[in-house]
Amino acid sequence: MNTKQLTTKDIELAAGIIAGGGLLGIPTETVYGLGANGLDPRAVQSIFAAKGRPQDNPLILHIPGADWLEQYCQEIPAAARQLAGKFWPGPLTMILKRKDNVPDAVTAGLDTVGMRCPDCAVTRQVIAAAGVPIAAPSGNASGRPSPTTAAAMLEDMEGKIDAILDGGPCQVGVESTIIDLTVTPPRLLRPGGVTLEELEEVLGQVEVDEAVRRLMAPGEQPKAPGMKYRHYAPKAPVTVVKGPPEKTAEYILCHMGEKSGVICFDEFREGFSGYPVETLGPVVDQRAQARHIFEALRAFDRLEVTDIWAQSPADTGIGLAVTNRLNKAAGFRIIEL
Ligand code: TXA
Ligand code: MG
Repeated sequence: MNTKQLTTKDIELAAGIIAGGGLLGIPTETVYGLGANGLDPRAVQSIFAAKGRPQDNPLILHIPGADWLEQYCQEIPAAARQLAGKFWPGPLTMILKRKDNVPDAVTAGLDTVGMRCPDCAVTRQVIAAAGVPIAAPSGNASGRPSPTTAAAMLEDMEGKIDAILDGGPCQVGVESTIIDLTVTPPRLLRPGGVTLEELEEVLGQVEVDEAVRRLMAPGEQPKAPGMKYRHYAPKAPVTVVKGPPEKTAEYILCHMGEKSGVICFDEFREGFSGYPVETLGPVVDQRAQARHIFEALRAFDRLEVTDIWAQSPADTGIGLAVTNRLNKAAGFRIIEL
């Protein structure tokens, strides 16, 4: 299959691919997604095939506005409307009770469905023009870091999807926050672009699922099925070093090998000259760190490195999402100084 490259002018063409049961790479503010008609079980099945994704891992539905919620969800709590009012369009996915018209192929048989309204006008226009919600996981091959540019998505999906709509680089850089509103108190299943602190301001108490901060033991079931899989991992093993940035930089310099790669804050780049280095952004700029983390991980797959050492960002604010992705990429191999 020849994967067409579309621009933001090709809304009708893109909508036609969705309506016709095809696969379309879609830009969002978080990461690129691999979209298909969320009401067509066959189209949804082909997402799993293109990604090599396990069948028990449900997909989220993308809609152009909160007014579409009722078509696909029931028993919608007041909190959902409040959160949608405050954070949509934006990087928040809400788990709600589904209606019967949502195919099992989307929810992996669960009686709930993840709903998200992306902060990307062109993608909302494509959904509205297609007239159906778009089911879309992140546009990476299963297990690889999520793509934050069309080029990164093509590395994994060229020849496997009908087209990709290039909307430029993603502004957030880590996936949406997932909050389960079918339980009391609401539970954070995946940290993302909307922070835990922001959710607590609206919801009061929020429980954080165990899978956010630690490795699941064999047989343990996190509430978001996707959180149990090895994820985001580059080919070379990653070690995360946590502590004051001056100390972590020094530690890495002392312990790295001749062919090691480094992920560090901008301030420490020079200290690693001569080695392959990917920078996250300045120590204090957590939004920049979120934008760069996946590209940093992907970059090392284009180089020959034996292992990768990473300075750990702080885990407050959006840093909880960045450290979650980095720790997962490292299989939770973390050194605390
Ligand atoms: O930012 C994002 O959310 C991106 C863009 C493309 O929208 N999408 C994304 O999808 O990250 P994906 O499939 O890579 O991650 C969705 C996560 C998975 O961990 C999945 O297990 C979980 O959401 N999930 C989906 N439906 C669920 C449900 N009904 N209950 C619990 N977890 C669910
Ligand atoms: Mg994903």
